[in-house]
Amino acid sequence: MIITSSGELFSWSSSQRKFGVRVGLVPTMGGLHEGHISLVRAAGRDCGAVVVSIFVNPKQFGQNEDFNLYPRTLDADKNLVESAGLRDKVRLFVPSVEEMYPLGFDSVVHVGGVTGMLEGAFRPTHFDGVSTVVLKLFNISGADVAYFGLKDYQQVCAIRKMVADLNIPIDIVACPIIRGADGVALSSRNSYLSAAQRIQATVLSQSLLIAENLIVSEGCRDVGKIIGAVRDKILTAVDAKIDYIAIADTKNLKELKTLDNCPEAVILLAVKIETTRLIDNKIINIP
Ligand code: PAF
Repeated sequence: MIITSSGELFSWSSSQRKFGVRVGLVPTMGGLHEGHISLVRAAGRDCGAVVVSIFVNPKQFGQNEDFNLYPRTLDADKNLVESAGLRDKVRLFVPSVEEMYPLGFDSVVHVGGVTGMLEGAFRPTHFDGVSTVVLKLFNISGADVAYFGLKDYQQVCAIRKMVADLNIPIDIVACPIIRGADGVALSSRNSYLSAAQRIQATVLSQSLLIAENLIVSEGCRDVGKIIGAVRDKILTAVDAKIDYIAIADTKNLKELKTLDNCPEAVILLAVKIETTRLIDNKIINIP
């Protein structure tokens, strides 16, 4: 079930496609949770063959970020993928760093437009690392379709833009955010939170609900007022430090000044709870 070599994965996928089988790719960095498994299930529904990649990609972590700390839980990941019930139509692709970036590797994929703001402003090399590894995974897996979670909203925009700009022959499917019973968006980084910090982390999703209520039920169109209400809620958590709160166009991620005459918008947050940096977002259909 586990493949570590790019050549072997490409051969498997090519043999599937030769027989007309649609190949789906679920790119992950491991530390799998129900959010990832919802992507695996979606791929299993649409495709006759599914590749789940697990690779903690060093190129998308900044120097002072959590590359070394990032959860590496291959046995548990394997069990979770098995629990999706795809049996022998799934392969786990678990390459080494040397397999993905052999000595002399020297290329970068840079996606413009949607990557400079929000996460890109706080993590300047992040999206180059993401687009470089994702394009490699597209090519190695030969997938017809790839699945991404909307929790990383800006990542989905960047991947869609890369696919459009570079005419990459792959369909992109974006799947809904999966939340815990307390509303916290599932993330591999939630494992860094203590029980007390997890309670504090609920302010992210609660602040998004406050914004939605202001816009949809109270008819508020004043972006400053909505962001103020979101900020007030987040700052009720004693250890919360806000990187950004933004209300943006759902397609190009440009920040909106007003919601007048705007059919939909996305609210995006990045907040540190002590040292754990969490992101969340909500698409709002504006009545
Ligand atoms: O979303 C992630 O886990 C990563 O950014 C991805 C898409 C697997 C690329 O390393």
